[in-house]
Amino acid sequence: MRTQVCIIGGGPSGLLLSQLLHRAGIDTVVLERQSRAHVLSRIRAGVLEWGSTEVLDAAGVGARMHREGFVHDGVQLAARNRAIRIDFKELTGKPVLVYGQTEVTHDLYEARDAMGGTIITEAAGVTLHGLPDAPYVTFTKDGVEQRLDCDYIAGCDGFHGASRRAIPDKLLKTFEKIYPFGWLGVLSETPPVAPELIYASHERGFALCSMRNPQLSRYYIQVPLEDRVEAWSDTAFWDELRRRIPHEAAETLVTGPSIEKSIAPLRSFVAEPMRWGRLFLVGDAAHIVPPTGAKGLNLAVSDVHYLSRALIARYRDGSEALIEGYSETALRRVWKAIRFSWWMTTLLHRFPDQTAFDLHIQAGEIDYLGESVAARTALAENYVGLPF
Ligand code: APR
Ligand code: PHB
Repeated sequence: MRTQVCIIGGGPSGLLLSQLLHRAGIDTVVLERQSRAHVLSRIRAGVLEWGSTEVLDAAGVGARMHREGFVHDGVQLAARNRAIRIDFKELTGKPVLVYGQTEVTHDLYEARDAMGGTIITEAAGVTLHGLPDAPYVTFTKDGVEQRLDCDYIAGCDGFHGASRRAIPDKLLKTFEKIYPFGWLGVLSETPPVAPELIYASHERGFALCSMRNPQLSRYYIQVPLEDRVEAWSDTAFWDELRRRIPHEAAETLVTGPSIEKSIAPLRSFVAEPMRWGRLFLVGDAAHIVPPTGAKGLNLAVSDVHYLSRALIARYRDGSEALIEGYSETALRRVWKAIRFSWWMTTLLHRFPDQTAFDLHIQAGEIDYLGESVAARTALAENYVGLPF
């Protein structure tokens, strides 16, 4: 087999890249290790920057997102018995769109099918060869070993994928911060507790009230890393959430059985560079953010935006400049999102080793947000997404 761009990974990064390239007349093959049903069963975050919605529109996958997504003009920060509204619309002129990543992925698979895109699922043992200059990929499908020749490889295979590992250790720098807690998340078929997301900082730990639609809510609480999800009954979860969110929200919270419950660790991670010759790293393959600023999917979209633009320029007029600049351009935006999600995480969580000094700094920062339009604007412009 031969293609122009071999895309490893059929998550949102790989599918969106494939879709944008195909629309520009560039041939791609997507190799995905899991089944489609497995990919579509993963529950991830649900907030799209406005710029991300524009890229999805440009990819021709925005129709259902605009019909079924919810435009949110702001969020609530709740801390130390005060509520601070961050009014994105007023502060930045832009809202965000609440629409689950699972739905984005679903729309991308439908669009790829409609255009006859090649997606090989359950591709085992995907291995990268010939890098940096003459790439090809081998894999096994239905017990048969296959070879795929290509001009470029896009590594869209997430944090645990094969692509980043194909870059020699001596060329790759990694930067990592592990946070000393996780998020216990619950999805429930209950109406959201408030019309906007609530990020709550409480002495017992952080909590987040989010949503997917008027009948589907998503809630999270900060838990110790050692906690096991089996040890958290639904009742214990709801009781703990109620303690951490503002009184009015706790009183009106509608609870129900969880339809998904899991614990995710929190990590910041960056791998540099994001290009090695004809291999590019995209999305979670290159970087991980803690979920506090909802940046994971949005960063994947901005990487795809930069890479698709570079590959389209290369195939249209032979220009290599954007390809050569891909890593640097993408990383500049990545580091700003890494900084913002680290800052939101540090601002709102309780850390096991926090001193009285640290607690005062946190309280001072939250007070400042309540009092200063400049501080709220800085939060808002990062949350709605920095320009591409
Ligand atoms: N071969 C083929 N496919 C692989 C391999 C491999 N060796 N390893 C992983 N994959 C697949 C995974 O099964 C997954 O479907 O690559 C895909 C990567 O998808 P994601 O992990 O979702 O990463 P990405 O597409 O970059 O999406 C960005 O935004 O909200 C965040 O972390 C969240 O999923 C997220 C992301
Ligand atoms: C979610 O809805 O799952 C969600 C929303 C905002 C975040 C993280 C997760 O910051």
